[in-house]
Amino acid sequence: VKDKIEVGLMGLGVVGGGVENALREKAADIAKQVGAPLVMKRILVRDPFKKRACQAQPYLFTTNPQHILNDPEIDIIVEVIGGESPAYDYIKEAISRGKYVVTANKEVIAKHGFELLNLAAEHNVALLYEASAGGGIPLIGPLGHDLLANKISAIHAIINGTTNYILTKMALEDIDFDTALKEARELGYAEADPASDVDGIDATYKLAILAALAFQTQVLPGDVYHEGISHLAARDFRYAKELGYTIKLLAIAKREDDTFQVRVHPTFIPDDLLLARVDGVFNAVQIDGDLSGRILFYGQGAGALPTSSAILADVIHLARNISQGSSPLPRVRMDQTMTVKPISEIRTRYYLRMTVADRPGVLAQIARVLGDFLISISSVIQKEVDESAQSAEIVIMTHPSQERAMQQAVSQMEKLDVVKEISNLIRVED
Ligand SMILES: NC(=O)c1ccc[n+]([C@@H]2O[C@H](COP(=O)([O-])OP(=O)(O)OC[C@H]3O[C@@H](n4cnc5c(N)ncnc54)[C@H](OP(=O)(O)O)[C@@H]3O)[C@@H](O)[C@H]2O)c1
Repeated sequence: VKDKIEVGLMGLGVVGGGVENALREKAADIAKQVGAPLVMKRILVRDPFKKRACQAQPYLFTTNPQHILNDPEIDIIVEVIGGESPAYDYIKEAISRGKYVVTANKEVIAKHGFELLNLAAEHNVALLYEASAGGGIPLIGPLGHDLLANKISAIHAIINGTTNYILTKMALEDIDFDTALKEARELGYAEADPASDVDGIDATYKLAILAALAFQTQVLPGDVYHEGISHLAARDFRYAKELGYTIKLLAIAKREDDTFQVRVHPTFIPDDLLLARVDGVFNAVQIDGDLSGRILFYGQGAGALPTSSAILADVIHLARNISQGSSPLPRVRMDQTMTVKPISEIRTRYYLRMTVADRPGVLAQIARVLGDFLISISSVIQKEVDESAQSAEIVIMTHPSQERAMQQAVSQMEKLDVVKEISNLIRVED
């Protein structure tokens, strides 16, 4: 039984600053919960002379990771540097030296979680990562603990605040992608380089983490099909509204016997679904379990305070364990043999928007191509006619069809001279 638990913090940016602050301000309450005080021993930064908003004591700063990794008195290391390198090496070394680790790093957990969790088990310590997916929303805990008795059939998630902010703006204000992105940047909701969010990569990491827990198998970021949101146009949102849908960047994981699908892409979802009401930077994760039924988690997926809520809970959990001298927590096994279903094999409904020549018989030609690939049409809208260009815009909603067939039909349609452009193809989730 220890009289104090010492913590080393790696990274003092948005999240690290929040963690340091909350740990200081809540020190008395946390000490009561743990049964021993938590002491911040050292803080790793890149630039010790940088002006910081947080009130961390500069004498704790170091630029040498070994001052934390090598300190025998440090029990718990909190890694909030971000990125794969050098964070991965630090986490690995920390575990190998018998330290407990808490991280918010989705990239490292998505790519190397399996290996690192095994390493932690080997060294009789734990690696906790609640903050790595969904920020302040508890997801890892529920999936790894409270929902364990369920067979999870599906996860549908809005897990990137930046893109949800942009899509909400586009839907409500009838503006195009570039204008919405510019606003998101001005408000600090999008990074200077927004590629990881906008291209769906950030959501891919988070989905890989959640799906691995839900299906108790290894899921790597490379298994997740992903598409970003930059190809969406204001007119797609107008049509969606007219058809009774909303467009969201959805992260979807579905179990089908011993295969599963994992994909992140813009998706038409019915307007009356709770997920369709999740606006702005908020996140929501819907989980379907065979016993629990449908569950919806909603909240702030990022930000200093919500993220430190998740990190500190992990720290408190570990600190209690250390102070009471109990053995490390059991963890979810991820050894189910399941295979990933390639995107070409999935079946879903589609929204297809195209520009065609404004002449009789065009729709029949398009319907024939779709028919050749066994794709049946559920509705068609044709109204925007550009008389000077003698063209019209057609929107088709299909019945469930195979992705491969749909992609082949699109290439065939592109070859028709009556088709001027296939403007967008968006999957529908009912
Ligand atoms: N921001 C969020 O809302 C949020 C939410 C959930 C999860 N996360 C995750 O939390 C992690 C941290 O994100 P953040 O937004 O706090 O990042 P950030 O503001 O960029 O902070 C990164 C911190 O790490 C330090 N650092 C960077 N490279 C380093 C290196 N090579 N050696 C030593 N220190 C280094 C920086 O030092 P200096 O201060 O000296 O530059 C900075 O203090 C990421 O994994 C992120 O995905 C973030």
